[in-house]
Amino acid sequence: MEISEKVVVVTGGASGIGAAMVTRFAAEGAGAVVALDIDGDGAATIAAAVGGSSYELDVADDAQTRSVFNQIEDELGRIDILCLNAGIATAGSVDVPNEVWQRTWDVNVMSHVYATRCVLPGMLARGSGYLVHTASAAGLLTNIGAAPYSVTKHAVVALAEWLSLTYGDRGIVVSALCPQFVDTPMLDVFAGDGDAMKGWVHSLAVTPQEVAEAVVAGLAAETFLILPHPDVAVYFERKAVDYDRWLVGMRKLQASMKDKPSS
Ligand SMILES: NC(=O)c1ccc[n+]([C@@H]2O[C@H](COP(=O)([O-])OP(=O)(O)OC[C@H]3O[C@@H](n4cnc5c(N)ncnc54)[C@H](O)[C@@H]3O)[C@@H](O)[C@H]2O)c1
Repeated sequence: MEISEKVVVVTGGASGIGAAMVTRFAAEGAGAVVALDIDGDGAATIAAAVGGSSYELDVADDAQTRSVFNQIEDELGRIDILCLNAGIATAGSVDVPNEVWQRTWDVNVMSHVYATRCVLPGMLARGSGYLVHTASAAGLLTNIGAAPYSVTKHAVVALAEWLSLTYGDRGIVVSALCPQFVDTPMLDVFAGDGDAMKGWVHSLAVTPQEVAEAVVAGLAAETFLILPHPDVAVYFERKAVDYDRWLVGMRKLQASMKDKPSS
């Protein structure tokens, strides 16, 4: 899909990948760019810099989401491209407290359901729309040391896949954005405290601008998977071909992060 003249909404637009997408979409000639974020001031700053607009929104709040999307559609007439990008990184094992699991689920997964519900009827009526779900390589592979993050990102890929096969013949294009590590404030959670893990995570990190570049290319090509780290496709294929062997390799990788507490 061409970005030029399109109305684009980006959740989590105040920082990192979302902020880079807002900036890049404006540079690509979008008709309007709207940044949504729980950090309303941050979203306003990013949007104002490119002549866009913004709203403060907790994407995990269904009613608030409905209200904000109604306001956007009233103001701009339609939403052509929705980037569901807000997310939180929750590290830890199954003993992470229930309320933290729930919050991670609500922010990382239910937010995609709530916002998609708002835009889908209009997109289907027009026979055109694009949903970009920011998942993660953790949604195709897994994230060492971060069970809630890995599980919720798998769910995002599952939702995107379901939407694509259900609505793909009715003009709705769906992509799952699955970066490995990206140099944003979130990176500290993945890097943890140990030197080995930190070194590995930072060696793989790309910039948010490189991710935005991959998104623009992915939208042009309309590919389901958008992979700013092309190696992720190779690992994903290896996992599918021999799941047990892949798990052995992942355990070895985890063990090599010796100074990282195992979880
Ligand atoms: N940084 C990475 O290494 C990496 C890798 C793969 C995928 N991702 C994913 O990319 C997306 C963006 O992350 P990022 O790296 O830019 O991190 P970031 O922390 O820089 O940005 C996340 C943004 O989401 C916003 N946000 C968080 N909770 C929210 C809520 N409830 N409602 C509205 N906004 C909320 C934050 O305020 C922030 O502006 C996330 O979904 C993340 O899981 C990140």
